[in-house]
Amino acid sequence: MALTSIILVAGEGTRLRPLTYTLPKPLIPIMGKPLVVRLIEGLRDVGLSSFYVVVGHLGFLFRQLLGDGSELNVSIKYVEQRERLGIAHAIHRAIEEGANGQLVVHLGDNYFGEGINSFIREFMEGDYDVFIVLTRHKDPTRFGNAIISDGKVVKLIEKPREVPPNSYVVTGIYMFKDSRDVERAFSTLKPSARGEYEITDLIQWFINNGHRVGYAITNSWWKDMGTHQDILDLLYLMLDEIKSRIEGEVRGEVNGRVIIEKGAMVEGFVHGPAYIGKGSVIGRETVIEHYVDVETNASINGGSVSRSIVLDNARLELGRARIIDSIIGPNSRIRLTNGISRLIIGEGNVIESM
Ligand code: DAU
Repeated sequence: MALTSIILVAGEGTRLRPLTYTLPKPLIPIMGKPLVVRLIEGLRDVGLSSFYVVVGHLGFLFRQLLGDGSELNVSIKYVEQRERLGIAHAIHRAIEEGANGQLVVHLGDNYFGEGINSFIREFMEGDYDVFIVLTRHKDPTRFGNAIISDGKVVKLIEKPREVPPNSYVVTGIYMFKDSRDVERAFSTLKPSARGEYEITDLIQWFINNGHRVGYAITNSWWKDMGTHQDILDLLYLMLDEIKSRIEGEVRGEVNGRVIIEKGAMVEGFVHGPAYIGKGSVIGRETVIEHYVDVETNASINGGSVSRSIVLDNARLELGRARIIDSIIGPNSRIRLTNGISRLIIGEGNVIESM
């Protein structure tokens, strides 16, 4: 398939600080795999092989992880977007650097429960100039909105103050038949009030100029990872879909659906759904309750953990404490004795209760 994919990961993830000071959000791992790797694998599995990754904030970390793409069996070129001038600008930068023909643009922080196969097929079969994917959301004013009339997209509005009638939320996958039209559209854009070249304005140009703009409405869950709670929600959705696989050592007890990776050691209790990554140790007195993801080489001794992510190399000494709804950054050290805590902690922090 001669489609080129553009993946946008140049955001700073300000609402996800402190995690994103050292770890851009598409590099946050869930169940052993950074999200951007899942995203590229998903696109690869529907036949895409040429990728342009638009980087900015901590871009070198993407280069280090993904290299030229050969390990994932794809080809990856990197495009620098020095100033965060908007999604339309990021797409334009990729085109400037060689992305051409039919384009599938995917935001690095968007995930679709049903995958993207059917959207790409519909785009190809329908001979559209632009194709977008819409959804219902409880809070539409956080997003771009598309107004539909007589089965057609008639207007796009970025983060409206009030929810427009007959509208859906616009998700972060955009397909274009011809990169040259994208450039034509981009050349007419002006920055919005927030100083960005908006994707909604870019697509509006296609509508105004009589191009065919198609859409699908997703039937499954969709996640845009803007906040800490969004990451946790994505984890819960993904854990809901796992099948049990136990390759590590279990000396304690596991029940429900769990993945225990090779080299992991469970001496305490793990209640699924849960994921225990490579080389991680769950101590004898520890209870892992539901919806927990412990990444690589972490250790937890004592206490209990529920609905949380514990990232690589974190060390938790929990005594009789309970941690809920938490994200524990990589290489952090936590020592608690009792009580219930909700912790959102960046890389390398030390927290001790006395
Ligand atoms: O998630 C869907 C929403 O994404 C759409 O409904 C909106 O219409 C669209 O504008 C966008 O809204 P956000 O305000 O959520 O976009 P955000 O600034 O979070 O950026 C989304 C991704 O694009 C993020 O992974 C970083 C990347 N990006 C963003 C900008 C503004 C870039 O690579 N360069 C940029 O200049």
